[in-house]
Amino acid sequence: MTSGYQLNEDSDNEQHLATTTTVVAETTVTAATSTANIQVAGVASGSGNDVPEHIRKFVFTNQKGNADEGEASDEPIETIEIQIPEILQSGYSFYTWPCAPVLAWFLWERRKNLASKHILELGAGTALPGILAAKCGARVILSDSCILPKSLAHIRKSCLTNNLVPGKDIEVIGVSWGLLLNSVFNIGPLDLIIGADCFYDPSVFEDILVTVSFLLERNPQAKFVCTYQERSADWSIEALLKKWKLRAVPINTDEVGKSSGIDLSEFMGGHTIHLIEITKEPKN
Ligand SMILES: C[S@@+](CC[C@H](N)C(=O)[O-])C[C@H]1O[C@@H](n2cnc3c(N)ncnc32)[C@H](O)[C@@H]1O
Repeated sequence: MTSGYQLNEDSDNEQHLATTTTVVAETTVTAATSTANIQVAGVASGSGNDVPEHIRKFVFTNQKGNADEGEASDEPIETIEIQIPEILQSGYSFYTWPCAPVLAWFLWERRKNLASKHILELGAGTALPGILAAKCGARVILSDSCILPKSLAHIRKSCLTNNLVPGKDIEVIGVSWGLLLNSVFNIGPLDLIIGADCFYDPSVFEDILVTVSFLLERNPQAKFVCTYQERSADWSIEALLKKWKLRAVPINTDEVGKSSGIDLSEFMGGHTIHLIEITKEPKN
């Protein structure tokens, strides 16, 4: 978890807003030329607090972006478009962080293994990866902090925007990292836990791993696949992994998106993003 910029609320928000603007500008051009991976569909409505909201579109496809390159494929075309309502001038959970599309593309490329799998997303925010997984046939529970009701309401809105009805097609629950409340005990069997940009503040690293460790103890065959952004060379979860009897294996992001001709750096806005898989240490 190495350098980039120091994380404090103001600087991180500003940094991210700048990043998002860049991504939007770049990908609008991309959309005009070939594969429309992200598009901004214009200002949709006010958020209730006169904060403008827009819909950001993410298109997942197995088609390579540039048909002119002549790589004809016999594969049937598969495409899923996800629309994410975002409020830029708001809290962490109201816009899509660069880690989320990276995780979502990773899942998309494994979509054939997702059908009927039970997946929990931690710190879901706008929930792009979890919503994509649900669209690919997984049984998904989206979660965010139980003390952030507006964030949970925004997740429900994200679901509805994508024709997923909370409580029917997808579940939305409050899970605060490190707090083993009823909502956590009531989660059924899981195949996979996912999280995008949850490791953004060292003060919560242990809380996240406590929750992950608890869930993996109950679901020993499951794994936690997450993306994180490099923010400081001083940050590490190594000792905490050991303490909570977990182990992490890096997943190479170089190949992610390649099968669809996607350059993931388009989504990263100049940040370095890593993908890791965390599992329970085997018992001796
Ligand atoms: C940096 S944002 C990432 C959001 C989203 N996963 C994404 O990548 O776009 C971190 C997310 O973690 C949630 N969060 C922060 N502290 C939390 C906690 N203690 N328990 C659960 N979720 C928390 C925030 O509400 C926010 O949605």
